[in-house]
Amino acid sequence: MCGHSPQRLYPRHISECSTEPATFGPIWTRKNFGTEAQIYLSLDASMSLRSRLRVLPTAISLASGSSRHAFQHQQWKPSCRVATGSVHAFSAIASSFDDKRVSLVQGASRGLGLEFVTQLLRGSQALPSLAGGHVVATCRNPEKAEALQELATSHPGRLTILPLDVTDEATIKAAATAVKTKLGRLDLLLNVTGVLHIPDVLTPETSLSKVTSESLLLSFQTNAMGPLLVTQAFEALLSSTAANAANSGDPVVVANLSARVGSIEDNRLGGWYSYRSSKSALNQLTRTMAVDFARKRNPVICVMLHPGTADTDLTKPFQKNVPELFTPERAVKQLLEILAGLKKEDTGKFYAWDGKIVPF
Ligand SMILES: NC(=O)c1ccc[n+]([C@@H]2O[C@H](COP(=O)([O-])OP(=O)(O)OC[C@H]3O[C@@H](n4cnc5c(N)ncnc54)[C@H](OP(=O)(O)O)[C@@H]3O)[C@@H](O)[C@H]2O)c1
Repeated sequence: MCGHSPQRLYPRHISECSTEPATFGPIWTRKNFGTEAQIYLSLDASMSLRSRLRVLPTAISLASGSSRHAFQHQQWKPSCRVATGSVHAFSAIASSFDDKRVSLVQGASRGLGLEFVTQLLRGSQALPSLAGGHVVATCRNPEKAEALQELATSHPGRLTILPLDVTDEATIKAAATAVKTKLGRLDLLLNVTGVLHIPDVLTPETSLSKVTSESLLLSFQTNAMGPLLVTQAFEALLSSTAANAANSGDPVVVANLSARVGSIEDNRLGGWYSYRSSKSALNQLTRTMAVDFARKRNPVICVMLHPGTADTDLTKPFQKNVPELFTPERAVKQLLEILAGLKKEDTGKFYAWDGKIVPF
């Protein structure tokens, strides 16, 4: 049973023996190297040094499956104790994979992203497998994201808010590292961020003469490159989750918020050059990722979603002639229902809010 790849063990394995079960962090990783092993035990940063010292031997003893373990404590890290030693009997618990699923909503400060976080925390009926799971919300300015902070307060321990600007790769990588270290899995990645208009910066073009290289670049960087770079940073975690959860029947999914106006085949109105073409590029990039993921033994499903027209800041200036304007609640509920029905063979498809396939 002692493989060579990292194994992940979870707090429930040690909680009954811990005097302070609630203070254990969620990550408890073991790496095996033949008969040698390393255990990484993430502990809550607020846990006192004395508490850590008291809890660690119990944890190691349970992880090794034996009270006759021979681990020497090697080093301290701020919130992580690393122990190294020879393995006795890991097999009893090493195959466990935590059943608490993790969703990440990228672009969660407002609009549809905020609503995705709200419904995932509430426990969407459409996706019961995610109910009770952990949600990660990323946004440019967590300190200003008051609605997210309120959700974190009303759902203690279930929401992690991380900074991420899709135009800043360092923040993307830092968020990916934080999720891997803190939660160790990622089951659903929702790339929601998108820009259509920004006062004094970006205006959807009504004619060819109004297109600028700046508007094209900003739209491509945010709407097309952003979701790609985020998915790339999380690729390893998504793939390892898909492998570990292979027997659960619940797929690992990347869903990118696109827009019907990005469909080249559907383009009859013209205009909106930057937004349209950035969403067309997003569709192509998502399809390409879907094809690449599909070659793996435990593929991650990648899809594009068109939410319909929903009442958010993005659509505010363009709502006048919209025949059916969805509330964010309804738009997100509809999209979660689509995600709930996804199967392996659906990867690479572009879904509208009503479940119909959008040609692109
Ligand atoms: N609403 C609709 O009817 C509709 C229709 C079709 C497609 N969509 C697509 O659905 C998605 C969500 O739209 P929405 O209506 O919810 O838009 P929204 O209300 O305007 O919200 C846009 C979100 O994107 C974030 N964002 C912008 N630039 C960012 C960057 N560089 N890095 C990280 N986050 C950034 C914003 O964060 P800040 O708060 O920091 O600005 C905000 O959270 C978009 O991709 C949009 O194209 C929406």
